[in-house]
Amino acid sequence: MSDHTWFEPYKIKAVERIPITTPEQRAAALEEAGWNTFLLRSDQVTIDLLTDSGTNAMSDRQWAGLMMGGEAYAGSRNFYHLEETVRRVYGYRYVVPTHQGRGAEHIVSRMLIHKGDTIPGNMYFTTTRQHQELAGGTFADVIVDEAHDPQSRHPFKGNVNLERLEKVIEQAERVPYLSIAGTVNMAGGQPISLANLRAVREIAHAHGALVIFDATRAVENAWFIKEREPGHADRSVAEILLEMCSLTDGCTMSAKKDSLVNIGGWIGLNDPDLAAQARNLCVVYEGLHTYGGLAGRDLEAIAIGIEESVDDDHVRARILQVRELGEMLEAAGVPIVEPIGGHAVFLDAKRIYPHIPQEEFPAQRLAGEIYLDSGTRTMERGIVSAGRDPETGEHRHPALELVRLTIPRRVYTSRHLAGVARSVARVFERRWTTRGLEMVFEPTYLRFFQARFRPLES
Ligand code: F0G
Repeated sequence: MSDHTWFEPYKIKAVERIPITTPEQRAAALEEAGWNTFLLRSDQVTIDLLTDSGTNAMSDRQWAGLMMGGEAYAGSRNFYHLEETVRRVYGYRYVVPTHQGRGAEHIVSRMLIHKGDTIPGNMYFTTTRQHQELAGGTFADVIVDEAHDPQSRHPFKGNVNLERLEKVIEQAERVPYLSIAGTVNMAGGQPISLANLRAVREIAHAHGALVIFDATRAVENAWFIKEREPGHADRSVAEILLEMCSLTDGCTMSAKKDSLVNIGGWIGLNDPDLAAQARNLCVVYEGLHTYGGLAGRDLEAIAIGIEESVDDDHVRARILQVRELGEMLEAAGVPIVEPIGGHAVFLDAKRIYPHIPQEEFPAQRLAGEIYLDSGTRTMERGIVSAGRDPETGEHRHPALELVRLTIPRRVYTSRHLAGVARSVARVFERRWTTRGLEMVFEPTYLRFFQARFRPLES
């Protein structure tokens, strides 16, 4: 249960008017968007829970930091500020900035993966796996079985099944690295424990493989370790984060999440030769290795955001706000993924619409219905997001068919979220009259971003 004494450790200095729409306007907008919430215009959205990525509210200190951008092509002071901050907070020796997380994933995948390699990981993430596949690798899911069960209350559903990991490594031709995320987005924002990460590292190193950490929401993972893993309750989030990173050989980072900015990412590495390779690929694909596709002001905002992100009061309010939304939905009887994750509440579309087969995209339909009801934008995380198997061309059928209500950091109040909970409850109540969708346009890569659908009506 959440601690109801939490409150936001900030006050509001600037506000942005949000659009209020009519049901007719929403119906027209959704049709125009092909029932894909990614194709709505933000001016058509009242409460935007599409993602927590790049949607954070920056602080007064970050906005002031933008004015301190030293816009030099090479060696900007803001890069050195970022480098110093990452070294201190995350502990990696070498820092290569990138325009966002997938820029980092592209470079790391290209650098480490040869054709035919296997990359085991604790569940796939869309862009991460796409870059691994484009580099010639195959992703192998080694997450614990509980992660695929939305009703399992395992406290660390981001853990790796160590036996399966050993087996995958033994059967693979070559494993250059393990791709380990803290918290696991597609499993519902679920954490990995320090004990499991330590065991993963031992197995990796025994087989000559690296551990590359997806640190995108590692701060949130550190909070769960503090909350749930015995012996860590009295430690700060910052201490736990540093220990997690010390168990890995490098990381990719989307600063658009934990680090409270609107754009940016970086690669962290400890090995000087790998760092040199990453810097070299950075100049080809991102920009000079001291700006990586970002302006000096962006680098400054990230450095300040990293500092703010490991403040225990901030992380606590962040996690408990998300939990509060989840508990409101549970109280209304809406099936959600448990335990409630770090960045989002995930609705279990399989249990909400048991009468809609997965090939008729139940979660995509649910996201559309929530938009129609209240102008709240959410995201499908099910069969559409999972894409097609590159070998067979068939749909992948993920066990999880979810809709994600993702909470931007420091943006919405509890009252906004109470309105969202009421809207989802209304959609849930009329579930038996809702049917599925048919896909009418499918792009080649990461189809969920741009696919279009038509409702199947009786
Ligand atoms: N890794 C994880 C775990 C992510 O959630 C994301 C992005 C990325 C990598 C890629 O980072 O967007 O900066 O290129 N997730 C966003 C989301 C898009 O909505 O969950 P990026």
